[in-house]
Amino acid sequence: MKVIHSPDELQEVAISYKNEGKTIGFVPTMGFLHEGHEKLIEEARKENDIVLLSIFVNPLQFGPHDDLDHYPRDEQHDRKVASRLGVDLLFHPDVESMYPHEPAIKLTVIRRTDVLCGRSRPGHFDGVVTVLAKLFHLGLPTRVYFGMKDAQQVAVVDGLIKDFHFPVELVPVPTVREPDGLAKSSRNVNLSAAERKEAPFIHKGLVHGKVLIQDGCRNPEKVNNAVKSFIEKHTHGKIDYIEILSYPELESVASIKGRIILAAAVKFNKARLIDNLVMEAGD
Ligand code: PAJ
Repeated sequence: MKVIHSPDELQEVAISYKNEGKTIGFVPTMGFLHEGHEKLIEEARKENDIVLLSIFVNPLQFGPHDDLDHYPRDEQHDRKVASRLGVDLLFHPDVESMYPHEPAIKLTVIRRTDVLCGRSRPGHFDGVVTVLAKLFHLGLPTRVYFGMKDAQQVAVVDGLIKDFHFPVELVPVPTVREPDGLAKSSRNVNLSAAERKEAPFIHKGLVHGKVLIQDGCRNPEKVNNAVKSFIEKHTHGKIDYIEILSYPELESVASIKGRIILAAAVKFNKARLIDNLVMEAGD
């Protein structure tokens, strides 16, 4: 495994692989790798000649109240995981090399952003697409792998790739869960023991909503309320949102039909957890 810190060097290496006709599978992350990230790397490993993994805690996507300085990091662990999973290129730049000067251009996401997590994190997805546009130009990926755990991010990246004609295939990867259904997340370590027992009820609540939809309920408000009551009954978490939207457009729906997302965000004492189910709701 080659570890690269310099953006220019990554681009040179990527160009030479492309010239050899090799496919590059890219997994962008902020590190502190867990089984969710691992699944993305495994998928990339199956489908490409070269696997590129980036680890970069991107300051641009953190708001003033987000804790950038306390974002968990473990470089040694990440390197071990990457080499065990057969990563060819590990890109680990520092902030100065990624943002060496005041930017002349800013990317702004204008759709799919003022709902779900985007609503409470203004500017977050602008930071995500800005770093991804840079990373895509540096790593020249054939395919990029993103987790459906962050389904809104997948929808925004879908917009980025289409609007700016990035010659790259977006591969969404299903959410990896703990045996009790809790979506794997680096934030789960911030749950108390009691909260950890309650947290799987977010997923269970979403499944409860899905069953209602499958049983024919077409009223988004009814389903939202049912999921809300379920989660409130089984956890002490504070519900940030429960939403049903079209997917990937993320527009509100008067009646549940077609491809939709049922998503929830729940705040515990020191961790805000998100989860979702994307489903085909029929006509
Ligand atoms: P990060 O939070 O490190 O996540 C990296 C990737 O891992 C994302 O695509 C995310 O959806 C995926 N992931 C996280 N938990 C998962 C799980 N339980 N199952 C499946 N996939 C999971 O998302 C980011 O970093 C950043 O915004 C980034 C795209 C790197 C841009 O800075």
